Amino acid sequence: MSPEHSPISAEHSLTVRELLAFYAAAGVDCALLDEPVNRLLEDDAAMAAPAIEPAQRQAASSPAVSSPASSLPPPGAQGAAPAATVVIPEAAIASARELARSAPTLEALRELMERFDGCALKATATRLVFADGNPQARLMLIGEAPGRDEDLQGLPFVGRSGQLLDRMLAAIGLDRTSVYIANVIPWRPPGNRTPTPQETQICLPFITRQIELVDPDVIMTLGNPSTQAILATREGIMRTRGRWVDYDTGRRTIRALPTFHPAYLLRQPSYKRLSWQDLCAVSRALQTPAV
Ligand code: URA
Repeated sequence: MSPEHSPISAEHSLTVRELLAFYAAAGVDCALLDEPVNRLLEDDAAMAAPAIEPAQRQAASSPAVSSPASSLPPPGAQGAAPAATVVIPEAAIASARELARSAPTLEALRELMERFDGCALKATATRLVFADGNPQARLMLIGEAPGRDEDLQGLPFVGRSGQLLDRMLAAIGLDRTSVYIANVIPWRPPGNRTPTPQETQICLPFITRQIELVDPDVIMTLGNPSTQAILATREGIMRTRGRWVDYDTGRRTIRALPTFHPAYLLRQPSYKRLSWQDLCAVSRALQTPAV
C-alpha cells in the first residue's frame, strides 16, 4: 500500500515500522491468526470459565494426540489456528510412539506425521519438513529443527547453514544424492526459538523411526540439541564432538559421530578445523564395509 493510501500517517508509519523491526529482532516473525486477539480479555474469560477436569482434558486432546491414524484429523488441517488444542505431553508422546512404530515405510511415516496434531509447533509452522536426500544413503545427517528457509521450502538445511553443509559434504565427495538429511524436530519453532524438551520428546519417536527405516551405516548428529536428543546424552557438544558412539536401533548398531552444527561454524569459523577432522573420520568410516 502506498503511503498516500495508507491510513497511517508518515509519522506513525515510521513507528509501526520500528515496532515491526523490534518484533522481528525478538523473533516474532509470523502471525498465528488472521485477526488480532486480545489475550487480556481472554484471561478474564478463562477466569470465569469452569475448570476442565483432567479426564475431560484427556478426552478433548485424545483425538488429536492419543489414538492411531483412524482418529487423526483430516489432512490439510495444518495452518488452522492453534485455538484451544490441549495437548497433554505424555499422551502426545505415547501417540507419536504408536504412530511412528506403525509406519512400514518412509512415505507412510511422512503421511502419519502430516496428520499428527500432537505437537503445537505444527500450528505455527508453514509445513512439515520431513527429509531430503537419498533414503538408500549410507550416511544420515540429523539437525535440530527447520529454520525460516526450510519452513518455506519444506526441505531441511536449505538456508545459509545448509549451503555450508553442502560445501562440507562436497569436501568429502558427497552431496544430497549420497546422504540423507533430517531433523529431530520436523516443524519450525516460531522465530527459530529453541524447541522445548517436551516438543523434542514428542517428535523423537518420528526421527527414531526414520533412522530405523533409512537404516544408514553412519549417523552424524549436527550440533548439541540433535546430539543430546538422538544419543540420549547430557554432555555438551564440546565434549561429544568427534567421539564415535554406538546408536542401537534394537535390530543393529549404527556408528554415530556428533559434530558442530553448520550454523555454529558460520558464527565460529575457527571450529571448522575440528569439523574437518569429523568429516574425514566419517569419510573413512564410509570406506569400511557395513557391519
Ligand atoms: N538448522 C537445522 O538444525 N536444521 C535445518 O534444517 C536448518 C537449520
